[in-house]
Amino acid sequence: KTFSGIDIEARFEHARDVIREAGKRAMEYYEGDAADLAIETKTNALDMVSIADKNVEAIIRDRIGDAFPEDGFLGEEMGIEKGDNDCLWVIDPIDGTACFVNQMPTWCISVALMIGKEAVIGLIYHPCNGELFSAVIGDGARVNGEPVKASDAKLVSDGVMGIGMSHRLPSSSIVPVIGQLLDEEGMFIRNGSCALMMAYASAGRLIGYYEPHINPWDCMAGIVLMREAGGWCNDFLDLPNVLEDGGPILAAGPNVAKHLADMIGLSYRG
Ligand code: IPD
Ligand code: CA
Ligand code: CA
Ligand code: CA
Repeated sequence: KTFSGIDIEARFEHARDVIREAGKRAMEYYEGDAADLAIETKTNALDMVSIADKNVEAIIRDRIGDAFPEDGFLGEEMGIEKGDNDCLWVIDPIDGTACFVNQMPTWCISVALMIGKEAVIGLIYHPCNGELFSAVIGDGARVNGEPVKASDAKLVSDGVMGIGMSHRLPSSSIVPVIGQLLDEEGMFIRNGSCALMMAYASAGRLIGYYEPHINPWDCMAGIVLMREAGGWCNDFLDLPNVLEDGGPILAAGPNVAKHLADMIGLSYRG
Protein backbone atom coordinates (compact mmCIF):
# COMPACT_ATOMS: atom_id res chain seq x y z
CA LYS A 1 0.00 0.00 0.00
CA THR A 2 1.36 3.39 -0.99
CA PHE A 3 0.37 7.03 -0.44
CA SER A 4 1.78 9.69 -2.79
CA GLY A 5 4.18 7.04 -4.05
CA ILE A 6 5.49 6.31 -0.53
CA ASP A 7 5.37 2.79 0.89
CA ILE A 8 3.19 3.26 3.96
CA GLU A 9 2.65 -0.45 4.52
CA ALA A 10 6.36 -1.06 5.14
CA ARG A 11 6.55 2.01 7.34
CA PHE A 12 3.52 0.92 9.36
CA GLU A 13 4.90 -2.55 9.97
CA HIS A 14 8.29 -1.24 11.00
CA ALA A 15 6.88 1.50 13.25
CA ARG A 16 4.64 -1.07 14.96
CA ASP A 17 7.71 -3.09 15.97
CA VAL A 18 9.57 0.05 17.00
CA ILE A 19 6.78 1.35 19.26
CA ARG A 20 6.61 -1.98 21.09
CA GLU A 21 10.37 -1.95 21.59
CA ALA A 22 10.17 1.66 22.81
CA GLY A 23 7.38 0.60 25.18
CA LYS A 24 9.58 -2.11 26.67
CA ARG A 25 12.30 0.42 27.32
CA ALA A 26 9.84 2.90 28.84
CA MET A 27 8.47 0.16 31.13
CA GLU A 28 11.98 -0.54 32.44
CA TYR A 29 12.22 3.10 33.48
CA TYR A 30 8.68 3.10 34.88
CA GLU A 31 9.29 0.03 37.00
CA GLY A 32 12.83 1.07 37.95
CA ASP A 33 14.09 3.42 40.62
CA ALA A 34 12.32 6.81 40.32
CA ALA A 35 15.53 8.50 41.48
CA ASP A 36 17.17 7.42 38.23
CA LEU A 37 14.67 9.34 36.11
CA ALA A 38 16.59 12.65 36.40
CA ILE A 39 13.39 14.71 36.25
CA GLU A 40 13.71 18.31 35.11
CA THR A 41 10.96 20.92 34.92
CA LYS A 42 10.36 22.88 31.74
CA THR A 43 7.88 25.82 31.80
CA ASN A 44 6.32 25.03 35.20
CA ALA A 45 6.37 22.40 37.95
CA LEU A 46 3.82 20.22 36.13
CA ASP A 47 5.61 20.43 32.78
CA MET A 48 8.50 18.05 33.15
CA VAL A 49 10.83 15.79 31.27
CA SER A 50 12.79 12.76 32.43
CA ILE A 51 15.61 10.74 31.01
CA ALA A 52 12.99 8.19 29.95
CA ASP A 53 11.27 10.73 27.65
CA LYS A 54 14.57 11.63 25.99
CA ASN A 55 15.88 8.10 25.59
CA VAL A 56 12.60 6.68 24.30
CA GLU A 57 12.42 9.42 21.67
CA ALA A 58 16.02 8.70 20.67
CA ILE A 59 15.26 4.97 20.27
CA ILE A 60 12.24 5.67 18.05
CA ARG A 61 14.12 8.16 15.86
CA ASP A 62 17.15 5.91 15.53
CA ARG A 63 15.22 2.76 14.69
CA ILE A 64 12.92 4.44 12.16
CA GLY A 65 15.81 6.47 10.73
CA ASP A 66 17.85 3.28 10.20
CA ALA A 67 15.08 1.76 8.08
CA PHE A 68 13.92 4.96 6.32
CA PRO A 69 16.90 7.34 6.27
CA GLU A 70 15.16 9.84 3.98
CA ASP A 71 12.25 10.46 6.42
CA GLY A 72 11.99 13.49 8.74
CA PHE A 73 11.07 13.74 12.43
CA LEU A 74 9.21 16.00 14.81
CA GLY A 75 9.36 14.97 18.46
CA GLU A 76 8.45 16.68 21.71
CA GLU A 77 11.90 16.40 23.25
CA MET A 78 14.21 16.62 20.22
CA GLY A 79 12.40 19.01 17.90
CA ILE A 80 12.15 18.98 14.14
CA GLU A 81 14.55 17.47 11.65
CA LYS A 82 13.34 17.68 8.06
CA GLY A 83 13.91 14.71 5.77
CA ASP A 84 14.67 14.35 2.07
CA ASN A 85 11.10 13.37 1.21
CA ASP A 86 7.57 14.42 2.34
CA CYS A 87 7.50 12.01 5.31
CA LEU A 88 7.45 13.44 8.83
CA TRP A 89 7.26 11.14 11.85
CA VAL A 90 5.52 12.95 14.70
CA ILE A 91 6.51 11.47 18.06
CA ASP A 92 5.54 11.84 21.68
CA PRO A 93 7.88 9.40 23.46
CA ILE A 94 5.87 9.53 26.68
CA ASP A 95 2.49 11.20 26.68
CA GLY A 96 1.39 11.61 30.28
CA THR A 97 4.78 12.30 31.84
CA ALA A 98 3.16 13.62 35.03
CA CYS A 99 1.50 10.19 35.43
CA PHE A 100 4.66 8.32 34.45
CA VAL A 101 6.85 9.98 37.07
CA ASN A 102 4.15 9.69 39.76
CA GLN A 103 3.58 5.96 39.28
CA MET A 104 0.21 6.15 37.57
CA PRO A 105 -0.24 3.84 34.58
CA THR A 106 -2.06 6.25 32.22
CA TRP A 107 0.84 7.15 29.96
CA CYS A 108 1.54 5.97 26.43
CA ILE A 109 3.77 6.35 23.41
CA SER A 110 2.39 8.09 20.34
CA VAL A 111 3.87 7.83 16.84
CA ALA A 112 2.27 9.20 13.68
CA LEU A 113 3.37 9.58 10.09
CA MET A 114 2.49 12.64 8.06
CA ILE A 115 3.02 12.81 4.32
CA GLY A 116 2.86 16.45 3.31
CA LYS A 117 -0.22 17.88 5.05
CA GLU A 118 -1.95 14.52 5.55
CA ALA A 119 -1.67 12.25 8.61
CA VAL A 120 -1.58 8.66 7.34
CA ILE A 121 -0.40 6.36 10.16
CA GLY A 122 -1.35 6.50 13.84
CA LEU A 123 0.10 4.26 16.55
CA ILE A 124 -0.56 4.63 20.26
CA TYR A 125 0.91 2.06 22.62
CA HIS A 126 -0.16 1.73 26.25
CA PRO A 127 2.47 -0.58 27.74
CA CYS A 128 0.90 -0.90 31.21
CA ASN A 129 -2.21 -2.39 29.61
CA GLY A 130 -0.57 -4.15 26.67
CA GLU A 131 -2.83 -2.31 24.22
CA LEU A 132 -1.65 -1.13 20.81
CA PHE A 133 -4.04 1.19 18.97
CA SER A 134 -3.21 1.38 15.27
CA ALA A 135 -4.56 2.89 12.08
CA VAL A 136 -3.44 3.35 8.50
CA ILE A 137 -5.38 5.75 6.29
CA GLY A 138 -8.23 3.94 4.53
CA ASP A 139 -7.81 0.73 6.56
CA GLY A 140 -9.82 1.38 9.73
CA ALA A 141 -8.70 1.53 13.36
CA ARG A 142 -7.66 -1.42 15.49
CA VAL A 143 -6.79 -2.36 19.06
CA ASN A 144 -4.32 -5.24 19.16
CA GLY A 145 -5.42 -6.09 15.62
CA GLU A 146 -9.18 -6.09 16.30
CA PRO A 147 -11.26 -3.46 14.46
CA VAL A 148 -12.84 -0.73 16.61
CA LYS A 149 -15.36 2.06 16.06
CA ALA A 150 -15.92 5.48 17.59
CA SER A 151 -18.86 5.93 19.95
CA ASP A 152 -22.36 6.10 18.47
CA ALA A 153 -23.64 8.16 21.43
CA LYS A 154 -26.38 10.58 20.42
CA LEU A 155 -26.27 12.86 23.44
CA VAL A 156 -23.37 13.97 25.61
CA SER A 157 -25.20 12.32 28.51
CA ASP A 158 -24.86 8.93 26.77
CA GLY A 159 -21.18 8.52 27.72
CA VAL A 160 -18.02 10.00 29.17
CA MET A 161 -16.10 12.81 27.49
CA GLY A 162 -12.31 13.12 27.74
CA ILE A 163 -11.07 16.61 28.57
CA GLY A 164 -7.48 17.81 28.73
CA MET A 165 -5.92 21.01 29.95
CA SER A 166 -2.46 22.46 30.43
CA HIS A 167 -1.13 25.76 31.72
CA ARG A 168 -0.47 26.95 28.20
CA LEU A 169 -3.90 28.62 28.23
CA PRO A 170 -5.88 30.28 31.05
CA SER A 171 -8.51 28.32 32.98
CA SER A 172 -11.22 30.38 31.28
CA SER A 173 -10.55 28.38 28.11
CA ILE A 174 -11.96 25.20 29.66
CA VAL A 175 -14.20 26.06 32.61
CA PRO A 176 -17.29 27.11 30.59
CA VAL A 177 -17.08 23.94 28.46
CA ILE A 178 -16.99 21.73 31.54
CA GLY A 179 -19.90 23.72 32.97
CA GLN A 180 -22.05 23.22 29.91
CA LEU A 181 -21.20 19.52 29.67
CA LEU A 182 -22.27 18.99 33.29
CA ASP A 183 -25.41 21.08 32.79
CA GLU A 184 -26.37 18.66 29.99
CA GLU A 185 -25.85 15.73 32.37
CA GLY A 186 -22.61 14.78 30.66
CA MET A 187 -19.42 13.83 32.48
CA PHE A 188 -15.73 14.36 31.83
CA ILE A 189 -12.55 12.52 32.68
CA ARG A 190 -8.88 13.54 32.49
CA ASN A 191 -6.39 10.70 32.79
CA GLY A 192 -3.28 12.78 32.08
CA SER A 193 -2.63 11.60 28.53
CA CYS A 194 -4.23 13.27 25.53
CA ALA A 195 -3.03 10.51 23.19
CA LEU A 196 -4.44 7.73 25.36
CA MET A 197 -7.79 9.46 25.70
CA MET A 198 -7.96 9.96 21.92
CA ALA A 199 -7.13 6.26 21.50
CA TYR A 200 -9.98 5.45 23.88
CA ALA A 201 -12.29 7.69 21.87
CA SER A 202 -11.34 5.77 18.70
CA ALA A 203 -12.35 2.55 20.46
CA GLY A 204 -15.70 4.07 21.49
CA ARG A 205 -14.84 4.03 25.19
CA LEU A 206 -15.08 7.82 25.40
CA ILE A 207 -17.63 9.78 23.35
CA GLY A 208 -14.86 12.20 22.44
CA TYR A 209 -11.90 14.27 23.54
CA TYR A 210 -11.40 18.01 23.80
CA GLU A 211 -8.42 20.12 24.76
CA PRO A 212 -8.30 23.87 24.04
CA HIS A 213 -4.59 23.79 23.15
CA ILE A 214 -2.56 20.79 22.14
CA ASN A 215 0.71 20.19 20.32
CA PRO A 216 0.94 18.03 17.18
CA TRP A 217 2.86 15.18 18.87
CA ASP A 218 0.06 14.77 21.44
CA CYS A 219 -2.77 14.34 18.96
CA MET A 220 -1.45 13.37 15.49
CA ALA A 221 -1.74 9.59 15.94
CA GLY A 222 -5.07 10.10 17.70
CA ILE A 223 -6.43 12.04 14.72
CA VAL A 224 -5.65 9.15 12.34
CA LEU A 225 -7.16 6.64 14.76
CA MET A 226 -10.28 8.69 15.33
CA ARG A 227 -10.97 9.33 11.64
CA GLU A 228 -10.35 5.71 10.75
CA ALA A 229 -12.72 4.66 13.54
CA GLY A 230 -15.53 6.66 11.88
CA GLY A 231 -15.21 9.56 14.29
CA TRP A 232 -14.89 13.25 13.55
CA CYS A 233 -11.99 15.63 14.25
CA ASN A 234 -11.81 19.40 13.86
CA ASP A 235 -9.57 20.85 11.15
CA PHE A 236 -6.44 20.73 13.36
CA LEU A 237 -4.20 19.89 10.40
CA ASP A 238 -5.37 22.97 8.48
CA LEU A 239 -4.58 25.44 11.27
CA PRO A 240 -1.82 27.91 10.31
CA ASN A 241 1.65 26.90 11.63
CA VAL A 242 0.09 23.97 13.46
CA LEU A 243 3.34 21.98 13.61
CA GLU A 244 5.03 24.86 15.42
CA ASP A 245 2.18 26.31 17.47
CA GLY A 246 -0.44 23.57 17.94
CA GLY A 247 -4.09 24.50 18.45
CA PRO A 248 -7.42 23.20 19.78
CA ILE A 249 -8.35 19.55 19.29
CA LEU A 250 -11.83 18.10 19.30
CA ALA A 251 -12.37 14.47 18.41
CA ALA A 252 -15.85 13.00 18.79
CA GLY A 253 -18.23 10.26 17.85
CA PRO A 254 -20.11 11.17 14.64
CA ASN A 255 -23.48 11.83 16.30
CA VAL A 256 -22.24 14.18 19.04
CA ALA A 257 -19.54 15.95 17.02
CA LYS A 258 -21.64 18.86 15.75
CA HIS A 259 -23.19 19.51 19.12
CA LEU A 260 -19.79 19.49 20.84
CA ALA A 261 -18.24 21.71 18.17
CA ASP A 262 -21.09 24.23 18.61
CA MET A 263 -20.79 24.04 22.40
CA ILE A 264 -17.06 24.78 22.22
CA GLY A 265 -17.25 27.27 19.36
CA LEU A 266 -15.27 25.34 16.76
CA SER A 267 -16.38 25.20 13.15
CA TYR A 268 -18.05 21.99 12.07
CA ARG A 269 -17.87 20.60 8.59
CA GLY A 270 -19.61 17.25 8.33
C1 IPD B 1 0.53 16.41 28.06
C2 IPD B 1 -0.57 15.40 28.19
C3 IPD B 1 -1.76 16.00 28.86
C4 IPD B 1 -2.28 17.20 28.09
C5 IPD B 1 -1.17 18.23 27.94
C6 IPD B 1 0.05 17.60 27.30
P1 IPD B 1 3.01 15.31 28.14
O1 IPD B 1 1.65 15.84 27.38
O2 IPD B 1 -0.99 14.93 26.94
O3 IPD B 1 -2.80 15.08 28.96
O4 IPD B 1 -3.37 17.76 28.79
O5 IPD B 1 -1.64 19.27 27.14
O6 IPD B 1 1.08 18.56 27.25
O7 IPD B 1 3.73 16.55 28.54
O8 IPD B 1 2.62 14.46 29.26
O9 IPD B 1 3.71 14.62 27.01
CA1 CA C 1 5.80 17.15 28.06
CA1 CA D 1 2.34 14.90 25.23
CA1 CA E 1 5.59 13.83 26.18
